[in-house]
Amino acid sequence: AESFGAYMCYTSTVCAVSVLGADAEIKFSIPVGKLFTHELMRETFQNDFEPLSKLYAGRLYDDPMVFKCNLQNFPDLPEWLRFTQRHPYDNGFLYGTPTAPGKSIIEIHAINKRSYETTRQLLIINAVAGMYELPFQAEFFIKLRDIERVLPSPVQDEIKQDLQRLWKTEALEIVNITNALDRGGRVPLPLAGHFEGVYVKVGSEQYFSDCLLMVLTAEHQKQCKAGAKTRIPGECNFCSIPSNCITWCKIELVSPGICGGPGTIHLEMTLSTAGGEFNPPESPPSRDYFPDYIVTVIVPLILAIILCALLAYIMFCRREGVARRNDKTDQIQLYHHHTIHGDTEELRSMAGCRGVRPPMSTFPMFDARTGQSAPPLHSDSIPLIMPHLDNGEIKK
Ligand SMILES: *[C@@H]1O[C@H](CO)[C@@H](O)[C@H](O)[C@H]1NC(C)=O
Repeated sequence: AESFGAYMCYTSTVCAVSVLGADAEIKFSIPVGKLFTHELMRETFQNDFEPLSKLYAGRLYDDPMVFKCNLQNFPDLPEWLRFTQRHPYDNGFLYGTPTAPGKSIIEIHAINKRSYETTRQLLIINAVAGMYELPFQAEFFIKLRDIERVLPSPVQDEIKQDLQRLWKTEALEIVNITNALDRGGRVPLPLAGHFEGVYVKVGSEQYFSDCLLMVLTAEHQKQCKAGAKTRIPGECNFCSIPSNCITWCKIELVSPGICGGPGTIHLEMTLSTAGGEFNPPESPPSRDYFPDYIVTVIVPLILAIILCALLAYIMFCRREGVARRNDKTDQIQLYHHHTIHGDTEELRSMAGCRGVRPPMSTFPMFDARTGQSAPPLHSDSIPLIMPHLDNGEIKK
């Protein structure tokens, strides 16, 4: 914990917490290359939801809550920052290692799962250059842990103390903590004693201790390959709490800044040489679009023209004409039709103005052709249709 204080670039200030749950703002200044963790305390957010309930009712709710975190004006968190919360009744954690200096404004929305109220908090993280990359780094696997149980700072300190003794130095920093699920681990059955596992990466200025260098020996590699449950040699076992114990066969030593260092450095070198020169792919062969053009444009066009012509022929050339149709129709039917037409016209002209003379049909009897009224007859004998027509022609 003392060396923790030595690196104390870590200042947290609650800047503006205004009354009644308005936006709170928290500022952090952290060094690049060192693990950052921030616990989202449910109690703090609970105060935002019901700021007066504690004062007046004397009780504080313990509501389930979920958090949504994102970089301001972006849908997601910055690449280096991750968020985890196991359960709505647990606190959430933001954690990650900034890789470049810069300022990130993180928006945290807390959603109360009882009342569905929301509240917002701003987290301003200022990553400052200062701590350069630690030259010697090692990654350890802790099998019996879940990430949420490792992120609280007391647990981080316990783990760090064990590793400080393994490394034989106080100057040790946690560089990264990763959920094993992010590295292709599998979700364990919910059984007691089964955990997801956590990778913890630490770094130091000091060269690896003898215990750590044992990992590089051929003997160690052979033992681990054999798959037997290789135990940590007694003199290197510094694990004080069983759940914090590291897996001896999963230690990886890295020296990022130093050429020829142990561990994975050779891997990086082979990767960069294996690529060779960059050969841009050749442009694809040119394609003839004329057949496509014919199928999609010309053929439908021709079809449309043919249909148009067909329709025009039917509409203009195949019509019977009125005269021809009249010839085919029975004379009596035609006459009947004409009287209906005549009556309709008469009615229309009457509708036009008042005071016209009464229609002819209201006269006792009239001649259909001359309009002269005939002497009155008995109503029985009035024919419905005037049958006498000369040569089938109808005159107005
Ligand atoms: C920390 O671990 C995560 C997950 O494996 C990785 O994406 C990230 O690059 C690591 N950061 C550093 C600084 O090593």
